[in-house]
Amino acid sequence: MIETIQWTPDGVVMIDQTRLPREEKYVTCTSYQQVAEAIRSMVIRGAPAIGVAAAMGIALGMQQADSSNAFETICETLAATRPTAVNLFWAIDRMRRVYSEMRARPIQEIRARLIAEAQQIRLEDIAINECIGRNGADLIPDGKTVLTHCNAGALATAGYGTALGVIRAAVASGKRIDVFADETRPFLQGARLTIWELQHDRIPATLITDNMAGHFLHSGRIGCVIVGADRIAANGDVANKIGTYSVAVLAKENQVPFYVAAPVSTLDLKIACGDQIPIEQRAAAEVTHVQGVAVAPEGTAVANPAFDVTPHRYVTAIITERGVARPPYSESLPKLVQ
Ligand code: MRU
Repeated sequence: MIETIQWTPDGVVMIDQTRLPREEKYVTCTSYQQVAEAIRSMVIRGAPAIGVAAAMGIALGMQQADSSNAFETICETLAATRPTAVNLFWAIDRMRRVYSEMRARPIQEIRARLIAEAQQIRLEDIAINECIGRNGADLIPDGKTVLTHCNAGALATAGYGTALGVIRAAVASGKRIDVFADETRPFLQGARLTIWELQHDRIPATLITDNMAGHFLHSGRIGCVIVGADRIAANGDVANKIGTYSVAVLAKENQVPFYVAAPVSTLDLKIACGDQIPIEQRAAAEVTHVQGVAVAPEGTAVANPAFDVTPHRYVTAIITERGVARPPYSESLPKLVQ
């Protein structure tokens, strides 16, 4: 199994996703500031994975803090890393609840309880993904190609994956599936991470550039699209990696089902619709350069939103660990959190 992130006596150990697939290198974060920087620089990325990292960052920060007054500063530092994936804030809130229950206890006990909670979040995430996989496997057509965008696999979670978890479960159930992975410019999560993961599991995978998706969706070869999510609003609008919206529109145009796989912790039912989801803007160099090599003239003006919002009308179903939600989402999503 691919180990994305682990708590160890030396610190929080993560596989460095900026170096994959060239190098399988693990980094050890020995302070909460280093965990925050790892999230910001995308050494670790993917909504559930950054939630686990934030929880472990809080546990690590409190190990080293002189007094329990440091707790809020640590939480705020980690919360300021990336704005879109709600799992980050969900994990921080969960750690805050544990801390407020333990507040009056001796610092050693608080520290031990925070470490245990962070480890629990990691283990639960793996179990949740396996459950999402079981709930979604039936939706994947046998003998067809599945198109995915970005990386919603083991690397984006504590293990197994959401969208790739459904693909893994469908393959384990005996279905003959091959995967088309969009390369996912500009950060190339599809080319670098999804293909690497699928090769690891010997699941047949073909890399396409993002602008080929429409061609293949029209060809009749793609049986369904499945992607992950960073935040899902109460009406079912889905924020996910930039480019997801285009794929969803092309899927509907060609009558190909478009599925979203995500844990319930990705639901943000306080937000009525996708327009209210904050979209992270990242550095221009991610667009002007590919793996450090300039592909645009110096001084080029750049826009680099890291996510887009797919309106709920393009989403065929949302697969969670608590079941599969179908439209109307304003009725089906609240039932999952009751
Ligand atoms: O910018 P990233 O790589 O963190 O974006 C990741 C995605 O958009 C994933 O699809 C999403 O977080 C779901 S991961 C299970």
